[in-house]
Amino acid sequence: MTDFETILLERKGRVGVITLNRPKALNALNSQVLKDLIVALDELEADSGIGAIVLTGSERAFAAGADIKEMQPQSYMDMFMSDFFSGWDRLASARKPTIAAVAGYALGGGCEIAMMCDILLAADTAKFGQPEITLGVIPGIGGSQRLTRAVGKAKAMDLVLTGRTIDAEEAERAGLVSRIVPAAELLDEALKVGEKIASMSLPVAMVAKEAVNRSFETTLSEGIRFERRVFHSLFATEDQTEGMTAFVEKRKPNFNHR
Ligand code: CAA
Repeated sequence: MTDFETILLERKGRVGVITLNRPKALNALNSQVLKDLIVALDELEADSGIGAIVLTGSERAFAAGADIKEMQPQSYMDMFMSDFFSGWDRLASARKPTIAAVAGYALGGGCEIAMMCDILLAADTAKFGQPEITLGVIPGIGGSQRLTRAVGKAKAMDLVLTGRTIDAEEAERAGLVSRIVPAAELLDEALKVGEKIASMSLPVAMVAKEAVNRSFETTLSEGIRFERRVFHSLFATEDQTEGMTAFVEKRKPNFNHR
């Protein structure tokens, strides 16, 4: 397994756990974090023993945003020529199901990468926000788009224009997070969700997430057409045969991820 500078990578059963690990900078997201994360995601996606991926941080911070000290001296041309932030699309395009387990600060880029995950679990200590405007910029890793799709225009404008931070309860009410758990149970809960998903057929879980994500990209009729085609295609899998046969035979399915 690869050693990383800024993250930890563990395998717990069929769940891969990536922990952001720059404690002195509250897990600020710099280029090295991105490099490490891409390698870790590539490893976990290539590992047939892994069926779900948890992304987490520390008790104090999931991530307090993109690294402001790294960005501060950069010019427009630096940002444009390096296509700054574009590498983070790797997380959004992960094919295996991803779960963000957020405790403490998830600000700016921290909130944005949590929103890239398929399921967002929040500890009761979690704090979300897009404070970029206070730095003279706007969200740059998809926040203006994903936050608006997640919580609607009213709340997104409120957060993006004022830079204010919301707690876990407000985030849950707004539909940003799927549930809140006590901070001490966050990782266990995320692992349970990951194990549950990983106990299903992996190819089916992969197309399930693709189908839900398609709803953000297309019209209703095209989305439904996509869903139906993919639904039909699952009848070519061994796992559909196993899942339905197990139901008929009144036993638990034993998926072999094919
Ligand atoms: N980038 C770089 N360093 C950061 C950082 C960031 N985003 N957030 C925190 N740090 C560093 C601090 O500079 C400090 O380092 P030093 O000890 O070397 O001074 C260390 O982490 C601890 O932070 P604080 O002393 O500030 O801790 P605090 O408890 O007093 O405050 C906080 C916590 C409210 C989260 C505060 O650190 C803060 O406001 N951070 C910045 C939040 C922010 O603006 N995020 C958006 C970044 S821009 C962005 O993300 C663009 C985008 O769209 C992708």
